[in-house]
Amino acid sequence: MTVREYAATPIAASRRGSRIPARSPRRHTRGAKLSARLRRRDALRLLLERLAAGARGDSLPPGHVPSTFLFAFDASRIVGRVSIRHALNDFLLRIGGHVGYVVVPDCRRRGYATEMLRLSVRLAHDQLGINRVLVTCDHDNVASIRTIEKNGGVLENIVRAADLDTPKRRYWIDARLTSPTAGPS
Ligand SMILES: CC(C)(COP(=O)(O)OP(=O)(O)OC[C@H]1O[C@@H](n2cnc3c(N)ncnc32)[C@H](O)[C@@H]1OP(=O)(O)O)[C@@H](O)C(=O)NCCC(=O)NCCS
Repeated sequence: MTVREYAATPIAASRRGSRIPARSPRRHTRGAKLSARLRRRDALRLLLERLAAGARGDSLPPGHVPSTFLFAFDASRIVGRVSIRHALNDFLLRIGGHVGYVVVPDCRRRGYATEMLRLSVRLAHDQLGINRVLVTCDHDNVASIRTIEKNGGVLENIVRAADLDTPKRRYWIDARLTSPTAGPS
């Protein structure tokens, strides 16, 4: 499994040389399908541009920090996604943490989240220079608690507050321990 950016592949656009006659209903259906694919591709390109801008820190909403959004692939299938925030603001330090992740529902309980978090922590260290990674989860999210603890998360505290529906568990992972490029601390 890998975590990486999504690279859109170009649509084979040329219809030159088609042997379907211009007025044929089959040709019309093919044209409509191609238009729909191109519209979906445009929407995807826009999303990817926004994600790339978010990583650069361009045009961020007030109070947001730059973040890297990556997809988890098993072979060619997307099985989840992670978001790695490049810094902690007050909100992220208290509640949100550095890394957020979701696994596609029918891919859960196969170890993907554990591996996604491991790779994200390594990436946070190697590419963003983050030595201690904060990961948070709801107090009752057993799967996420296990995912974090299996990655060496050390519980700092549990935040209970009127603005939270569920208490938040705050864990720190020492990224220097998980990275092969880490030097002596
Ligand atoms: C939390 C989530 C990411 C876990 O993904 P996953 O790929 O199923 O996790 P893994 O397969 O790596 O399992 C990690 C551990 O959690 C356990 N686990 C997974 N789902 C579980 C469940 N529903 N109940 C109890 N334990 C569960 C696994 O058994 C494993 O522990 P083990 O090795 O001791 O057996 C996934 O359930 C999800 O996307 N949930 C919705 C979004 C979310 O909560 N994200 C986290 C926000 S902090």
